[in-house]
Amino acid sequence: MNKKNPEVVMVTGASAGVGRATALAFAKRGAHLGLIARGLPGLESLRKEIEALGARAVVLQCDVADPEQVEASAKKLEETFGPINVWVNNAMTTIFAPFKKIEPAEYKRATEVTYLGAVYGTMAAVKRMLSRDSGTIVQVGSALAYRSIPLQSPYCGAKHAILGFTASLRSELLHDGSNVHITMVHLPAMNTPQFEWCRTRLPRHPQPVPPIFEPEVAAEAIYWAAHHRRREVRVGASTVKAIIGNKVMPSTLDHYLGNIGYEAQQTHDPVLPDRPDNLFEPVDTDYGTHGSFGAKSANFSLQTWSTLHRGTLAAAAAGAAVLAWATVGRKKKARHKR
Ligand SMILES: NC(=O)c1ccc[n+]([C@@H]2O[C@H](COP(=O)([O-])OP(=O)(O)OC[C@H]3O[C@@H](n4cnc5c(N)ncnc54)[C@H](OP(=O)(O)O)[C@@H]3O)[C@@H](O)[C@H]2O)c1
Repeated sequence: MNKKNPEVVMVTGASAGVGRATALAFAKRGAHLGLIARGLPGLESLRKEIEALGARAVVLQCDVADPEQVEASAKKLEETFGPINVWVNNAMTTIFAPFKKIEPAEYKRATEVTYLGAVYGTMAAVKRMLSRDSGTIVQVGSALAYRSIPLQSPYCGAKHAILGFTASLRSELLHDGSNVHITMVHLPAMNTPQFEWCRTRLPRHPQPVPPIFEPEVAAEAIYWAAHHRRREVRVGASTVKAIIGNKVMPSTLDHYLGNIGYEAQQTHDPVLPDRPDNLFEPVDTDYGTHGSFGAKSANFSLQTWSTLHRGTLAAAAAGAAVLAWATVGRKKKARHKR
């Protein structure tokens, strides 16, 4: 990144979890950031973390379900730091519950935030990027954009919808010969605050389905995706397995998840009766980057590392092949001389 001309990056859902880790990943490399979320405590403490790294950030308190607020945030970011180079659509909320226990207003709200929030973010970004014929939009996806699981129907529906509209827009950009790039990063289970503050009707505390990764693993993949022209990036072997498994045996997976999906998504602890949730209003506390599953979470994914270092691995493999070929050649020559 050019230090004189820092990258300008918008991250939605920046105050916690994957969004917060992503904002920090860009900040470490000197980017200027726009931080979208609703809760001020999380946004302000993130701004301080970013400034401690020597980068700059503007707090943009905004509900992504409102297109006017999203547009105003984009305008403010450009007035503060200049043209937006990268826009990361990451904000989400959901209700952990069987479909039959979810109210229409709750379904609507989760969809407006998680799906339409990404649509409105993309609109604000595309509008600006098209006029400059440059820029990258990163949609934060999930294994669940391909393979739905029980107890998460609003979320799975929204993630499938983001996948769908993104593919449509990508074809339009290609049709127009645009240099604007849109990509999607599909994540496995991550140790983030969503399991503490998303609305739930489950009897026991919700949990991500193992294997679980720390949000920094996702953040590095998102940073990488913003700087390479890949259609999509799949993070974690479990994501790859879910996507391929669903292609090959969707019905078997329906039954399998029906059997194990309820248990796998709950800890043994009861849900606290006064648990706050962030569906309609933000929670008034800074939840930080990580959730409560640190002891079970990995900091590294070999599959992701190989995906992000594909070029280096290919060069190393080519080097090894040349070396092996040269060694065989030398041995043959030596035999010939004898
Ligand atoms: N955690 C996982 O297991 C997992 C797995 C696969 C994919 N992902 C993806 O990773 C991304 C981040 O998830 P996460 O687990 O990090 O979630 P999280 O910890 O719950 O954080 C969600 C962020 O979105 C913000 N947000 C919620 N409602 C909003 C609204 N109406 N307007 C603006 N911002 C809003 C929250 O802040 P406020 O509430 O203060 O607004 C927070 O900053 C999502 O796209 C998710 O699909 C996560």
